[in-house]
Amino acid sequence: MAHPNSKDRALRERAEAVIPGGMYGHQSVRLLPDDYPQFFSRGKGARLWDADGDELLDFMCAYGPNLMGYGDELIDAAFTRQLALGDTLTGPTGLIVELAEAMTAMVAHADWAIFCKNGADATLMALMVARAHTRRKTVVLAKGAYHGAAPWCALGPAGTTPEDKANRILCDYNDVASLEAAAASAGDDLAAIFAAPLKHDAFVDQALPDPAYARRARDLCDAAGALLVVDDVRAGLRIARDCSWSAVGVAPDLSTWGKCIANGHPISALLGADKARRAAASVFTTGSFWYQAAPMAAALATLERVRETPYLEHIQALGEKLREGFAGLAATHGFGLRQTGPATMPLFLFEDDPDLRQGFCWSSEMLKRGVYVHPWHNMFLCAAMTAADIDQALEAADGAFKALKSQSPTLAPVEKMRFLAA
Ligand SMILES: Cc1ncc(COP(=O)(O)O)c(C=O)c1O
Repeated sequence: MAHPNSKDRALRERAEAVIPGGMYGHQSVRLLPDDYPQFFSRGKGARLWDADGDELLDFMCAYGPNLMGYGDELIDAAFTRQLALGDTLTGPTGLIVELAEAMTAMVAHADWAIFCKNGADATLMALMVARAHTRRKTVVLAKGAYHGAAPWCALGPAGTTPEDKANRILCDYNDVASLEAAAASAGDDLAAIFAAPLKHDAFVDQALPDPAYARRARDLCDAAGALLVVDDVRAGLRIARDCSWSAVGVAPDLSTWGKCIANGHPISALLGADKARRAAASVFTTGSFWYQAAPMAAALATLERVRETPYLEHIQALGEKLREGFAGLAATHGFGLRQTGPATMPLFLFEDDPDLRQGFCWSSEMLKRGVYVHPWHNMFLCAAMTAADIDQALEAADGAFKALKSQSPTLAPVEKMRFLAA
């Protein structure tokens, strides 16, 4: 952990000099408790080792990519076998066809696939395909929903222009009236409705999709001739072995995938229905590394595991055990803890904790007990976790709640909270 004089501290000092802000993006620990390590040296299964060698049971799973366990031997063997044969070549290998076949067989709405690297590549392509298909500009999306860090959807204003976001209309997730109003104000220019499979925004409770909202999004797209996009980059394969909105019986025209589809190897995908095939073929979109064969081999091995093992039922059962255990402990220790979202992607927020000081304090106490949790972002379970790991997390939570009770959380990250409020 980040003790003074630790390797972590030394790396942070060096990083300050050569990495803007010391670290960027979602893996910067700037908005986490001060004792959270910034740097790691190793991961195996459900565990991480930070740069100082401290072992942590990891409930962030690399912010999603770790689905089957870090360093999964079969998946990594498929990756390295292909690496030895060839990875980035002058053209793709046959694996791209195999992978497109595997993904379209798994995801009911999909008839074709395009592969890329990051989730943001896939969401940008979805936008371009929808615009090419409809020859219109406007996209409806939910306020606060994250679809990547490209200028059209970046959360912050820095480095973007008003024009980048000009053709967007925001609605409230799960609010049918606001969705209808947004679609109506697009007039005859609606290209797409972008939907997160659930509300999984940071800092607020998660919300599962209201089936009526999902169905209305489908109907509005059909009525307008627009495309419905489900952004499954984060939730994909942790809710269903299909598009996550299959759980509410709604099929999109396009879905975006990334993060865990190759268990941490770099690959993402845009999947689409026949309806959008011609538009997808017309858009020029590519990248030097989009055809890499080794991540495709890893994705094929991951999808085989998805099809042939009860990994999903396993993480659902563990997630329920964790949720019940935390609820019981919170009640025993007299804390109000809101647990929201699917059990496989839990988010914990304390009641009456507007500046998250209890959450920070509790997370910090969990870290001291060897468990890495997040005070304001949804977490993830992976299939390498066991019931014994959940017991370890519950034991740590018992201690963390006790510690929280015995201290007034003056460890409040006041500066961080000011940053958040700004
Ligand atoms: C729902 C969603 N869409 C898109 C993205 C962007 O993915 P990436 O960070 O791989 O570009 C993310 C990343 O967290 C995400 O959660």
